[in-house]
Amino acid sequence: MTTSSRRTPDELRSSRWYAPDDLRSFGHRSRTKQMGFHRDEFLGKPVIAIINPWNELNTCHTHFPQRVQDIKRGIYQAGGFAVELPVLSLGEQLLKPTAMMYRNLLAMEVEEVLRGYPVDGAVLLGGCDKTTPGVLMGALSMNLPFVYVPGGAMLRGNWRGETLGSGTDVWKYWDQRRAGELDSESWEEIEDGIARSPGTCMTMGTAATMMSLAEALGLSMPGASSIPAVDSNHNRMASWSGRRAVEMVWENLKPTDVISDDSFANAIMVQMAIGGSTNGIIHLLAMARRAGITLDLERFDRISQGIPLLANVKPSGQYVMEDFYFAGGLRALMQQLKDRLKLNAKTINGRTLGENLKGAEIYHDDVIRPLENPVKPAGGTAVLRGSLAPQGAVIKPSAAEDRLLKHRGPAIVFKDIRDLKARVDRDDLPVTADSVLVLQNAGPVGAPGMPEWGQLPVPKKLLQQGIRDILRISDARMSGTSYGACVLHVAPEAALGGPLGLVRDGDLIELDVFQRRLDLLVKPEELVRRRQEWKAPPLKHRRGYAALYVEQVTQADEGCDFRFLQGAPGETSEPDIF
Ligand code: FES
Repeated sequence: MTTSSRRTPDELRSSRWYAPDDLRSFGHRSRTKQMGFHRDEFLGKPVIAIINPWNELNTCHTHFPQRVQDIKRGIYQAGGFAVELPVLSLGEQLLKPTAMMYRNLLAMEVEEVLRGYPVDGAVLLGGCDKTTPGVLMGALSMNLPFVYVPGGAMLRGNWRGETLGSGTDVWKYWDQRRAGELDSESWEEIEDGIARSPGTCMTMGTAATMMSLAEALGLSMPGASSIPAVDSNHNRMASWSGRRAVEMVWENLKPTDVISDDSFANAIMVQMAIGGSTNGIIHLLAMARRAGITLDLERFDRISQGIPLLANVKPSGQYVMEDFYFAGGLRALMQQLKDRLKLNAKTINGRTLGENLKGAEIYHDDVIRPLENPVKPAGGTAVLRGSLAPQGAVIKPSAAEDRLLKHRGPAIVFKDIRDLKARVDRDDLPVTADSVLVLQNAGPVGAPGMPEWGQLPVPKKLLQQGIRDILRISDARMSGTSYGACVLHVAPEAALGGPLGLVRDGDLIELDVFQRRLDLLVKPEELVRRRQEWKAPPLKHRRGYAALYVEQVTQADEGCDFRFLQGAPGETSEPDIF
């Protein structure tokens, strides 16, 4: 028990639907009985929604139907009433133009199904990239007690005895294939071996990052985020989460009782120590705003300076998530940071983070490095500002070649993704190893949805010269499994008239990660002239969700949430029941 007092059955939210002796409640009870339940199975019991973002095109969530049964088992054992509420499933691979565009739609759906139905608490399933922030943002806004169940990573990939990592090794071998160094038979074998089981990408991509950050925020059971999807410990963690959700309802332990400024400080430290995806920055910014907590980009940069990279996991390291789990998982990693973490931060199991870390140990100190032997000493993420990014941009220095961290070179500008695809591999592209590739109109409004186009391909001409990294700049995001000297999330974006949209071929661009600067070395009067000539790209969407998206989405430095969805938790009123 924490600060809140224990509730009685009459005080349950669901009792507003089920308990009164009136015509409306007769309907609620009789129709719940229509599904075969006795009155004493649901009346006066915590109704726990299992939020399930599953469908047959979300390749990472194929085990969720079984996990729903595991969670139900826990809920029933603890005396609750379990109801599965399917929600929009965002499959990162197959959903276009980008799952990011639909994160806010998922968040809206989660918030509204929790609000509209007789629900006392929830277990939130999530895993594939945007599903975790989507379900968490919605549930934070609704502010009912909940436990987040991370979907878990898939097993390691395999090709001719070599471990393959999701995304990371695909980029690597695709570059070899484009350079003419990998035959089609080998390429197809890699396709067969890269995704061997249910679960999310098994590198430290956005999925593993967000699952880890949710645990660091205190929103899942301790140790949950590192368990592989198909390990039987995952089933047990799921039923344990169901049991805990029932207890949280009786304790009235809401997200606002758990989550705090300290929780976000912990999440940012963990993001740096795991070498987490840059996407985590956008999602944490959005989640903090949903939780009513002030968080800005500079905080990531400040914290980044003091936290070493400890997880030797691809793309910044060598191993994959299965190794990370066997090496002790996130609890072992956080234990290394115990002198820096805010150990008094609360978590959903009613204990502090410090209490949850007791006894955690490293079992393989090459996979999870101790503080005295980090993979990199510090600086997992750098936040850049300057004349090219007045509202900020980010780069992951750990994933870039060192020679490019301080670099000046002439721009080669692609006005959008189609232009990039059409020209990047042409023999007459005037590119050298010093060039700076610039992609415009790939941001939240321009694309729309800020797709993961920020790892612009290294031009074939350079690959054939053995060059594998080049400075790239865009207002897009990058897959967490990617690597390279990619400056991302440039704000304001090109499509809104940001300086990125004014860059022209041959302009000199200067990046200085050490000084945190990103500058366009063009005379101010010339930029004024270009701005007067600049025309916004034509709107691609005039109706439907995409039109709402471009009208309401905020820039990357504010989390890309919708303006009308930001606000303190629980601000929207409960529904009237008449
Ligand atoms: Fe689902 Fe990577 S595609 S987590």
